[in-house]
Amino acid sequence: NDNQRGSVCWESPSNIALIKYWGKKGNQLPCNPSLSMSLKHAVTHTQLDYVPKKTEKKIHFKFDGKTQPTFEKRIAEFIDSLVNHLPFISDFEFDISSKNTFPHSAGIASSASAMSALALCLCSAEENITGKKLEEREYLQKASFIARLGSGSASRSIYGGYAAWGETNAFSKASNNYAVPFSQYTHPVFHDYQDTILLISAKQKLVSSTAGHQLMNNHPYANARYSQAFSNFERLLGILRGGDLIDFAKIVENEALSLHALMMNSSPSFTLLKPNTLEAIERIKQFRTDTKTPICFTLDAGPNIHLLFPKSEKEVIASFVDSELKNLLEDGKYLLDEVGEGPQKI
Ligand code: PMV
Repeated sequence: NDNQRGSVCWESPSNIALIKYWGKKGNQLPCNPSLSMSLKHAVTHTQLDYVPKKTEKKIHFKFDGKTQPTFEKRIAEFIDSLVNHLPFISDFEFDISSKNTFPHSAGIASSASAMSALALCLCSAEENITGKKLEEREYLQKASFIARLGSGSASRSIYGGYAAWGETNAFSKASNNYAVPFSQYTHPVFHDYQDTILLISAKQKLVSSTAGHQLMNNHPYANARYSQAFSNFERLLGILRGGDLIDFAKIVENEALSLHALMMNSSPSFTLLKPNTLEAIERIKQFRTDTKTPICFTLDAGPNIHLLFPKSEKEVIASFVDSELKNLLEDGKYLLDEVGEGPQKI
């Protein structure tokens, strides 16, 4: 049955959460709903070659053309754990090779793009092997489900534009098991939203998400945080539909700072914001007050800042970044990104 060998390839984006997923339960289920914007330029490119199983070693993994034993082990365990959902896995072995289009030091969490690209490849391989094609919506839902088991936030990278993950009365389509697209409900101003990523520190410390989510178990503010997230999520849905950029900034910045506040007062505690992160935040707020430009910031679990703004403000913000923020950045570096169209089959 050697004619069953084949190859599939996907490119899938990173995403930046506007409502943060922080705290999980059961088998990778979120304690609160989250919502994100998929990026355009920060993507992982993954090729998966499959052949009927011959040897004991089922998975070979390369990143940037080099073998990566630590990643390889994690990916092998992940793929093995999926046999109930993708039964073909037990009869095949895989050669996986992956690369990112964004620099390693960019503070862009690569687990979302990497796990979503891998999930899409596995679902495509299953279709090729079984000959059973799902319709697009079901296919993406399955890929999102698989991606979620690899890394929660990866469930949202399956869709371009905006995606929501986690059950809530505010959005009946949402599920804990997979993310769903939200772009079709958004105001046009969000269709080409910009994200300039300010690299405050390349040697940045990121809290591993496993450690991070664990901090929420027994966190004294856990329940207050979850109700804040449910409420921010609901308010953001209205804002995304209506296009109010002042309220957008309030919710998005509240989420970013809440994430860091939770890390600072958990035990163990993490202070990931650098002096220059705080200085940049002050300058962004001052600029907004002075110029009324609708700009806001968000943060991931690290010191770098994502500056979010409408495309119409691109020139104004570019000169603000150059004149007032650049000197706070490591080697003056930043990345220009924007909302993207989602994964592409190559
Ligand atoms: O998907 P994970 O387990 O790496 O968790 C991601 C957590 C944050 O990036 C901090 C927030 C989010 O919702 O993406």
